[in-house]
Amino acid sequence: MILCTFAVTGTLTAYISKMITQWLQIERGAAAGWGIRILVILFGYQVIILIVGFLFGQFKFFWRYEKKILHRMGLMKKSVDIINVAVFASGAGSNAQKIIDHFKGHPSINIALIVCNNPSAGVVDIAMKENIPVLLIDKSRFEEEAYLHDLRSYHIGFIVLAGFLWKVPSSLIDEFPRKIVNIHPALLPKYGGKNMYGDRVHQAVISAGERESGITIHFVDDVYDNGEIIFSARCNVDLGETAGSLAKKVHILEHEHYPGVIEDVVLKVGQSIKQR
Ligand code: GRF
Repeated sequence: MILCTFAVTGTLTAYISKMITQWLQIERGAAAGWGIRILVILFGYQVIILIVGFLFGQFKFFWRYEKKILHRMGLMKKSVDIINVAVFASGAGSNAQKIIDHFKGHPSINIALIVCNNPSAGVVDIAMKENIPVLLIDKSRFEEEAYLHDLRSYHIGFIVLAGFLWKVPSSLIDEFPRKIVNIHPALLPKYGGKNMYGDRVHQAVISAGERESGITIHFVDDVYDNGEIIFSARCNVDLGETAGSLAKKVHILEHEHYPGVIEDVVLKVGQSIKQR
């Protein structure tokens, strides 16, 4: 069908250019006649091939090439695929705020939704201030159907956990394979797992006599704090360190690194979607 499209388009182009020169009563071999033929071949051909391609059911194929030509000529802007990100957070939301700030005006990544299980969490106020919709979730429904329908309705393509404590159900992981990341306030694989959050983590690090702690950004799988590690950064645990002072150091690292790492991972996901 593609070859037929080429053949018919070629014949039609020649016929149309002949008709035009005859209609304009241009003498055979005159320079004006050649000019018209060249114009029809250069530009008319592109239109005719789309019409013929459509009749032979090949429009998509030829439109893809025509678009490339128009991009090269600077006559058409490349359409950017926007990836909508949902941030799951249920705490103060300082990471969520940094992430929102980082992606303001981003050409291809949009923070489209805040998902939260606590209506009085600071992150809800942040979302309202930033005009980002909030999805308040309930535990049993989250475990049963993971709010997949709602996430689809917001066209979510990537999920970021930033202070979200509930276990992520398998159905959500299956829906977003390698498209959910989490940040943990210590150097995994140590000091992770169920109930290891907030000051408990920092206290455990100090009690164990560690000289270093830090952050770990990882993909989320079925087990708490277990997925593949994407990034980690370290800070010192000084003599006389308290859970509170260590938490401050760790927060600084989180704010510094999490948005940029998210951007890298989301853009890679976008690439893999385009290559499919
Ligand atoms: C962060 O320390 C993060 O590592 C952990 O939860 C905390 C959230 O803090 N997963 P915030 O709500 O972003 O301030």
